[in-house]
Amino acid sequence: MEITITRTQNPKAKPTDESNLGFARIFTDHMFIVEYDKGIGWHDARIVPYGPLCLDPASPIFHYAQEIFEGTKVYRLANGEVGSFRLHDNARRMNRSADRTCMPELDEDFQIEAITRLVDLDRDWVPSSKGTSLYIRPTMISDGNSLGAHSADRFIYFVICAPSGSYYPEGMKPVRIRIEQRYVRAVKGGMGRAKTGGNYAASFKATKEAMDAGFNQVLWLDGREQKYVEEVGAMNMMFVIDGKIVTAELGDTILPGVTRDSVLTLAKERGMVVEERRISVDELYEAHAKGHLTEAFGTGTAAVISPVGELEYMGKSIIINNREIGPMAQLFYDALTALHRQTVEDRHGWTAVIPRYEY
Ligand code: COI
Repeated sequence: MEITITRTQNPKAKPTDESNLGFARIFTDHMFIVEYDKGIGWHDARIVPYGPLCLDPASPIFHYAQEIFEGTKVYRLANGEVGSFRLHDNARRMNRSADRTCMPELDEDFQIEAITRLVDLDRDWVPSSKGTSLYIRPTMISDGNSLGAHSADRFIYFVICAPSGSYYPEGMKPVRIRIEQRYVRAVKGGMGRAKTGGNYAASFKATKEAMDAGFNQVLWLDGREQKYVEEVGAMNMMFVIDGKIVTAELGDTILPGVTRDSVLTLAKERGMVVEERRISVDELYEAHAKGHLTEAFGTGTAAVISPVGELEYMGKSIIINNREIGPMAQLFYDALTALHRQTVEDRHGWTAVIPRYEY
């Protein structure tokens, strides 16, 4: 499918202070859009100036939240080019989320072409300072103009980009996490594995309560027994117990994170023992009491690696690694950021350079 390009006539001022970008607060000059209609398929692919979407108030996205999204990043390389990381994995996961939410798939190679063409056009927006990137948010929403509660006949896929710094204002400073005892995020057979907006909306109340109490995020427990740790809404979680990397096994209720997979792959390559299994809160607290829980950290595209300095459950806190960045968290942060910036050999075919298209 051909992608038409309409360049903006009013380019925005780019941020001059890269130390204060925050996470996805300003957006580049252009966005990508393609539309789907039942019986026609995807059509009218275009890059246009960034701006509002015009949707009917009866559009099903507003009523039934049939929506999915992805998060990926591109990075400024030392030679001035722009590098991507595991774009195909995000495109593949987008289609798995589309399947779960009854939305149409979009060819993976086409998703990559859309993203790379958009990034190429807005390449001057990619920041270069340490810890910065251009965050990319591919999104698919349902559209239409009737309120029947069933899958829509019309969809819009769009991509927007935002120069960003670290996800948490604290950067790599270890975060405080509350293990959520009341609300649950996902259940077996539910949508927890899909990257759909509703999973995030479902987390806001618990997250607000936790933040009001001084925590940064909540760690979700399984929805059935509320005993086993699953994920932190914006990150997967890893624990270092007895020198092994232990993380919750994937299933219906956990987002299969691309950064999670990268860390586990890098860990195994380095000869570390990796366990993907159920982990109870009791096990974590016992391991901590015996001095065996030496580190905890989150992994995610937005967050990269986020060390955890404290876990709290039912009012009882444990302090991890003296609230300091642990050696494993640092090792994976360094390994990942070197791959992102392409300063080390990529043995997995994860990285690519954004092509310079001719127009
Ligand atoms: C990402 O890491 O890209 C995400 O989509 C998480 C989001 C909460 C920022």
